[in-house]
Amino acid sequence: MLVKENVLEVLKDVIYFPKGDNIIALNMVDNLHVKENDIRFDLVVEHADDPKNDILINAAKRTLNSVFGDGVNIDIKIVEEKTALSKVKHIIAVASGKGGVGKSTVSANLAVALARANKRVGLVDADIYGPSVPMMFGTGDEQPGSFERDGKMVMVPIEKYGIKLLSIGFFVDANRPLIWRGPMATSALNQLMNDALWGELDFLVVDMPPGTGDIQLTLAQSFNVSGAVIVTTPQQVAFADVRRAAMMFNEEALQVPILGLVENMAYFVPDDMPEKKYYIFGKETGKKFAEELNVPLLGQIPMVERIAECGDQGTPLALDATSPVTKAFDKIAETIIRKF
Ligand SMILES: Nc1ncnc2c1ncn2[C@@H]1O[C@H](COP(=O)(O)OP(=O)(O)OP(=O)(O)O)[C@@H](O)[C@H]1O
Ligand SMILES: [Mg+2]
Repeated sequence: MLVKENVLEVLKDVIYFPKGDNIIALNMVDNLHVKENDIRFDLVVEHADDPKNDILINAAKRTLNSVFGDGVNIDIKIVEEKTALSKVKHIIAVASGKGGVGKSTVSANLAVALARANKRVGLVDADIYGPSVPMMFGTGDEQPGSFERDGKMVMVPIEKYGIKLLSIGFFVDANRPLIWRGPMATSALNQLMNDALWGELDFLVVDMPPGTGDIQLTLAQSFNVSGAVIVTTPQQVAFADVRRAAMMFNEEALQVPILGLVENMAYFVPDDMPEKKYYIFGKETGKKFAEELNVPLLGQIPMVERIAECGDQGTPLALDATSPVTKAFDKIAETIIRKF
């Protein structure tokens, strides 16, 4: 007679190699029923259409048959894992070692450009200590809704311009500094990512805080980040920090591919002379930085007053189809879409 405990014990010999552990330890076995000569369970996987699922099913059957004999009936059903991010195709981190170079501006406008290209887009504000998304999207006093699922609170992102938004700034007064220890900040990021109703998204853009600290590590280690967009300004001093950020993503333990470099404030365009371009910090700087990092230069964003104004007013400039800035962001979005 088959006993559930024995079956569980035997299933511990079935290894899921991509994650380097057995399917019991990885919580991949659900609804196990053992009766007389029958073994039935759900195999919980990330993607139902993954060809590796069949290999795993065969391995489980072979292991069970080898212990309990060929006479037992085994019925294994593939079930897709239901996590907040299981229907999010790509997580894109927008980062830079340096503060104030335009990470939040690039994140907001890139999200808008991706949405303009008919992609389903979300934006997470991972800058727990200095959130920007509420102001940049003009969400005012709006607060995300929430509901309880399996005893856990789930946040419903605020939707604006077709983009799903979450930020710690929706829950606290954005003008008051958050005095939190590192672990609280990383736990806040985990909640924004995991305890939210993201639904089906093509891209979840993550606006990173400056630096190479806990938040960056948590994001890269705990989530399946498809790639990082690195933002820099043309000054050499900015590049030193940018290089550090790029090196962090390249670390063996993280291995987040760098999609490329965005040179922000690459040149100055005066409002009253839109045809003029002033390369204050040199013309080829972005290209040179990209070459040094051995990554593509995704785009050059000019320094224009309207970017800052639009950011302050909650209407990202990339919403204005006539602006040359929009064209620059459309091109960056296009390159990223083509990459995946
Ligand atoms: N291309 C641009 N032209 C003009 N102003 C810009 C441009 N890019 C960003 N700014 C302005 O520069 C300031 C800093 O930009 P932003 O907040 O995007 O930088 P950040 O890298 O996210 O900063 P932090 O490190 O504080 O998160 C903002 O006031 C923004 O409006
Ligand atoms: Mg920012």
